[in-house]
Amino acid sequence: MSRAVSNLQIDSARLWDTIHETAKFGATAKGGLRRLTLSPEDKEVRDWFRRACEAAGLEVRIDTLGAMFALRKGRDMSKPPVGLGSHLDTQPTGGKFDGVLGTLAALEVVRTLNDAGIETDAPICIVNWTNEEGSRFAPAMMASAAYVGDFTPEDILSRKDAEGVTVAEALDAIGYRGTSPVGAQKLGCFVELHIEQGPILEAEHKTIGVVDSGQGVLWYDGKITGFESHAGSTPMPLRRDALATLSEIVLAVETIARKHGPNAVGTVGEAVIANPSRNVIPGEVAFTVDCRSADGAIMDALDRELRGAIAEIATRRKVEVALKLIWRKPPTHFNPKLVDAVEHAADMLGYSHRRITSGAGHDSCNLNTKLPAAMVFVPCKDGVSHNELEDATQADCAAGANVLMHTVLTLAGVAA
Ligand code: GLV
Ligand code: MN
Ligand code: MN
Repeated sequence: MSRAVSNLQIDSARLWDTIHETAKFGATAKGGLRRLTLSPEDKEVRDWFRRACEAAGLEVRIDTLGAMFALRKGRDMSKPPVGLGSHLDTQPTGGKFDGVLGTLAALEVVRTLNDAGIETDAPICIVNWTNEEGSRFAPAMMASAAYVGDFTPEDILSRKDAEGVTVAEALDAIGYRGTSPVGAQKLGCFVELHIEQGPILEAEHKTIGVVDSGQGVLWYDGKITGFESHAGSTPMPLRRDALATLSEIVLAVETIARKHGPNAVGTVGEAVIANPSRNVIPGEVAFTVDCRSADGAIMDALDRELRGAIAEIATRRKVEVALKLIWRKPPTHFNPKLVDAVEHAADMLGYSHRRITSGAGHDSCNLNTKLPAAMVFVPCKDGVSHNELEDATQADCAAGANVLMHTVLTLAGVAA
């Protein structure tokens, strides 16, 4: 690599401005974003992103699940492109950086290469994956899961949100059901920049997390069926209260995850009482469970112990609890050669770094099952994410984008 290339830096101010420019799409009063996948706000940011990619000379293709692929030609078009990117959808109370940083940093990498007149050997391809977050449609990361063949596109298109709208209908509503078949845009490898979404880098004063692994995920849908009855006249021993049952399940999830800590987490994130009324004992409650660990044996134990605890609670309370495992994602071990490439780039640029396990799920975890993938993390304030207060510094975002760019240059190859 020539000195001009090894000294290349992205434009920190331009990246920062871009992050804030797109933060108007779905902006919330508390300074975060509400940009649910395939919503009108998602359409706005997608339209912006498409125009920005085209202005940077990229050819944009959209697959039938709405994933956006923006290709920059390389010298040798017989080589598969090096993929980079992330997602532009957010949680209902999301921040400005989760997913956005990795997607817009990928655009910044291309803009920097364009300005410097650098051509890579292999092409490079920016990707904005559809529905990384999984809050409107389950499972999360559905476009990358279909890309690697974990689900058929037809299955994904038929998934419904809480209002009964299918993915197909939501794609059509915003004009993002593309024509490129899922998987048609080949990628040779994939690198994703993301905020850590946890406290480790900040606490250890490290600028870069070299992500070598990721937690596995278990997602469940649950339904408790008790018996609706009068809140005033039904004596306590005669009640079959679905919500009181859920409160025990919530505590069981917490107890089981803590028991396997620090390598396990467990959360009940959604609970919906059917026909709620102040003076009716809840008869039916739907809920979700999210359990994670980087250790496959611990994931098995979490599943076993959760089912055991729920069976005991249900019998004792004389209610029915249906628990359905809707998604199981095994732990990820990122490709060692790509992880080394990320570490080498961080070293070469002089940033402090450490290896790290991702607590969150990412499209890269799906991609890594079929092609080499790796991730770069940067710190976020107080480790807070999936929150409107999510924050990161301009310097850290720029450092992450520089590591992303130099990793991509190594993988795509540049003339000496
Ligand atoms: C994605 O944001 C996840 O749930 O980890
Ligand atoms: Mn994310
Ligand atoms: Mn997220």
